[in-house]
Amino acid sequence: MTSILDLLGRASELQKISDSPVLDTQRIICRIIGRDTSFLHTWPYAEITPNNLKNFESLFARRLMGEPIAYLTGEHGFWSLILQVNSHTLIPRPETELLVEIALTVSLGPHASVLDLGTGSGSIALALASERTNWSIVAVEKNTNALAIAKSNGFRLRLKNVDFLAGDWFSPLVARRFHLIISNPPYVAMGDESLNGDGVRFEPKEALVSGVDGLDSLRYIISQSPNFLHHGGWLLVEHGCDQGLEVRKLFLSRGYSEVSTHSDLNGRERVTLGCTRRSC
Ligand SMILES: C[S@@+](CC[C@H](N)C(=O)[O-])C[C@H]1O[C@@H](n2cnc3c(N)ncnc32)[C@H](O)[C@@H]1O
Repeated sequence: MTSILDLLGRASELQKISDSPVLDTQRIICRIIGRDTSFLHTWPYAEITPNNLKNFESLFARRLMGEPIAYLTGEHGFWSLILQVNSHTLIPRPETELLVEIALTVSLGPHASVLDLGTGSGSIALALASERTNWSIVAVEKNTNALAIAKSNGFRLRLKNVDFLAGDWFSPLVARRFHLIISNPPYVAMGDESLNGDGVRFEPKEALVSGVDGLDSLRYIISQSPNFLHHGGWLLVEHGCDQGLEVRKLFLSRGYSEVSTHSDLNGRERVTLGCTRRSC
């Protein structure tokens, strides 16, 4: 007979690949038995059925190979939301919460229209929708499998003010203008070593890589956004911590004003914004 306690005892095997082996093991057990962590603490001697044991071994083996826990459990926390994720979606990063935080401080009307480019699991659009229920948000994604997850997240979280569209950046938007365009586009340079790191190698390359210097998507979004922004509208983008200077140059050469870059808690430049007129 195998109990919950026996499975929790396997956590030490994950020490080499995880900073949180106990938590990971708990999350896998919770996933396979369909209970929360408090059940594990309350019923440590509960018996694991043969079928659940088989499922545990399968997920545990994948975790040992370095697959991110979010892909094994199918969910990840972002902002105040629990989002479904899978191998078609990037796992939303804590630094992207800075993008959401700044978007909420930009002076937009109570009924602002917002465009999220490359929505992935829907993280940014849904976080904004949860905070600003009167905003109309459009979220575009090229990968239709990822878009299906984003839509499902919107439905499950009952956030009705997001319209999800499939397409290549601005292509699904005909004659539309927004008060804010926000994006966490792919910005890793082709061949960058980080692509082989930790869980990153399990994530979709199209969500991460953007040309030889990582700036192809940012160049395109920065150059095209003024055509889709109202006069005085804002563009807000996430970028790599070593791309701040280049991104500011792109904003300035395209004529944005009020260009500024914000750093994360570690002091690394992560988010740049600019406005489409002199004084915003
Ligand atoms: C870095 S991920 C960000 C995902 C999500 N916004 C987040 O922050 O978690 C970039 C996203 O852009 C999407 N993408 C890449 N190229 C695209 C394109 N040409 N048009 C629309 N979306 C694109 C990718 O599929 C991916 O979901």
